[in-house]
Amino acid sequence: MDADKIDRQARRILRGNDRGGYTVPTAGLYPYQWNWDSCFAAWGFSTFDVKRAWFEIHTLFTGQWDNGMVPHIIFHKRADGYFPGPDVWQVPRVPHTSGITQPPVAATLIRSVYEADKHYGRVHMELVYGRLVSWHRWFMTHRVEEGMVAITHPWESGRDNAADWDAALENVDGSNVGEYTRCDTAHVDAAMRPSKEDCDRYLAIVQFSRGANWDEAVIAKDGPFRVADVGMTFMLLRACRDLLHIAAELDHYTGEIEGWIKVLEAGVARHWNPEGFYDSLDLRTGAFSGAPGSASFLAWYAGVENEGLLQLLTDILDRTAFGVASLDPRRRRFDALRYWRGPIWAVLNAMIGLGLAEMGHTLLAAKLRRDTQRLIAEHGFYEYFSPLDGAPAGGKSFTWTAAIWLAWAGPHARGRL
Ligand code: GLC
Repeated sequence: MDADKIDRQARRILRGNDRGGYTVPTAGLYPYQWNWDSCFAAWGFSTFDVKRAWFEIHTLFTGQWDNGMVPHIIFHKRADGYFPGPDVWQVPRVPHTSGITQPPVAATLIRSVYEADKHYGRVHMELVYGRLVSWHRWFMTHRVEEGMVAITHPWESGRDNAADWDAALENVDGSNVGEYTRCDTAHVDAAMRPSKEDCDRYLAIVQFSRGANWDEAVIAKDGPFRVADVGMTFMLLRACRDLLHIAAELDHYTGEIEGWIKVLEAGVARHWNPEGFYDSLDLRTGAFSGAPGSASFLAWYAGVENEGLLQLLTDILDRTAFGVASLDPRRRRFDALRYWRGPIWAVLNAMIGLGLAEMGHTLLAAKLRRDTQRLIAEHGFYEYFSPLDGAPAGGKSFTWTAAIWLAWAGPHARGRL
């Protein structure tokens, strides 16, 4: 492996996907700024251009709503070839945005960007601190139920078509969404994407929330989809811990954040499926999803220890060559190449690996990092990969895969936050 060469390629991908202050996940397929992709991009940029990393973060927060929510997509400039675009969401603000959020990895990755150069970053950290607090407060006010984070649309989870949402989606009526043309299948193979029925239901949920003027109270009461997402709970808990650290360092009041951490810690226990793993659950029916996958293993990232889970992870890693499959390959619904129903995603490997290392599972963490390194070195900077043989899939020259190489997986990476 020529690590220097791969480092250069990764930096070229980040620069190449830069649209002037924000980075698209990949050209064509995703032509706007996506929330958590951008945070990972900033982490990647911070390894060679801290100034550019902060720029990424500031452009992300230009999309923040008055109620504190940071949307999942910011439509800064007109771009063709993506559905559903701004005319579907119809959010009355500039820059145009979608109407839902995405995983709150910002506080965690911004902390890392800050720590890469505190002297330069201090003023930027002060600028975004209040914005992070108001986003987290929005979550705690509108989305946390019994300590678990509720999502109102599968896309909020970042794991769009994960098996976690199957049962809850069945209760969503997608039969009246009207005609539309999806664009993703023009870029990549339909066998690797969500199905048409799922897409109809995704759209039906958007239409409901749009009709409710994005009012969280109405959506909470009558929305067609409300699932406590185990991935979101773990990521918010982790992000609150990092926010607390930042608050202490900047001499801000910490009491409110400490309270949030306690609430979320209590919620983690409710995600425990007696089958032996942390699981999502449908808040409308109370049923567990029955989907042990990469999100379940974010426990360590959130500072949560669990012996049984460690055993399950070891079993799964024995079955895959390159890291954590998005769904346990022994499950009936496993599909090696269909997006979040089996494939490996470098960002999940990284978060799981970081958590394992921080909680003292050094060997397992090192294996995950080595496997991810080999995966990218051998197969390229793709969107995701088959857990069976590493076959690459989805978009290529992908921003967050390049960022993960630079910040965590590559031989020259720090390998920690
Ligand atoms: C897909 C992924 C989501 C990601 C987006 C842009 O929708 O499921 O997690 O943010 O693509 O890469």
